[in-house]
Amino acid sequence: MGSMKVLAFRLCAGFLALVLISPRPLRAEKTDRPNVVILATGGTIAGTGATSTTTVGYQAAKVPVEALIQAVPELQKVAQVRGEQVMQIASQNMTNEGLLKLGRRVNELAAEAGVDGIVITHGTDTLEETAYFLNLVVKSAKPVVLVGSMRPSTAISADGPANLYDAVLVAANPASADKGVLVCLEDEINAARDVTKTNTSSLETFKTPELGLLGYIRGGQVAFYRTPLQLHTSQTEFDLVNVQKLPEVAIVYGHEGVSRTAIDAFAAAKVDGIVYAGVGDGNPSEATEAALADARQKGIVVVRSARVGNGIVARNAEVNDDQRDFVVSDTLNPQKARILLMVALTKTQDTKELQRIFSEY
Ligand code: DGL
Repeated sequence: MGSMKVLAFRLCAGFLALVLISPRPLRAEKTDRPNVVILATGGTIAGTGATSTTTVGYQAAKVPVEALIQAVPELQKVAQVRGEQVMQIASQNMTNEGLLKLGRRVNELAAEAGVDGIVITHGTDTLEETAYFLNLVVKSAKPVVLVGSMRPSTAISADGPANLYDAVLVAANPASADKGVLVCLEDEINAARDVTKTNTSSLETFKTPELGLLGYIRGGQVAFYRTPLQLHTSQTEFDLVNVQKLPEVAIVYGHEGVSRTAIDAFAAAKVDGIVYAGVGDGNPSEATEAALADARQKGIVVVRSARVGNGIVARNAEVNDDQRDFVVSDTLNPQKARILLMVALTKTQDTKELQRIFSEY
């Protein structure tokens, strides 16, 4: 027999021996750990500084997802973890195209039977906006958890690794299902709809003022104390399948002496919607109310939100919304109201339908 045939025979014999004597099946071991996918987008959690004490002047969005995972070997005890680098950006640079790309990838993964939970690493600057967008478009009850950090990965007491560990704990826990998209930093679990960044530098920057957080991670345990009541994820009526481009929605900030210039400029640019961050109960000035009314006459949808951050913006309080055909934002802050209006405009431009949507999501 030629030498090649001898080699082939020996290989087959060796394989057969292995199968016969192997105490366990050769197929990959089925572990009982959940399967969690980490989608990385950048931010400070992937940031690097020149020294270990650099917490100002570092560069965000430098460390790849594989390195983020390798930095926390304890993850493997919680779940079967794998990573994908969806993008590598500082989150102030997140775009509508980036939101659509991320939303589509999350929905693809959530539809896979072999995926039990998804973690998204993200810059903290706009994390609340991405989280709320996903809250509106992810068509699954599986846990989707956004996580970031306030110190770069190279810093003394970097908060990223512990936050990532907590986020995987939450994403791997069946109790996290059907609670909408979650935001997890500093051992606290907040709802995507209501959480906001409240401090430029504090580690505990993400808060849900007044309405409150959903739960905690304590000693490796996940504990929920409430669940969101507004519609989200598996309950959503919105669908990204046929959306190639999100509508353009601008925000105008109200203040003493505000002029109509910004509103007129956005109207001239033919945006699809304007969210007005009004003073008090979402109030425009006489000048900006007139400008918003003119914009509405041109077919631009107008949503009154409030710069104050908490409380309900009421219809027909100091503005005759019925007469102006304006929509009000409920408790959504201006940046969240913009996200909802963008998504809602992919479905309808009817202001009565839009007002229903703002009262339900
Ligand atoms: N450039 C900011 C961002 O990517 C850094 C802040 C952070 O991620 O904590 O959101």
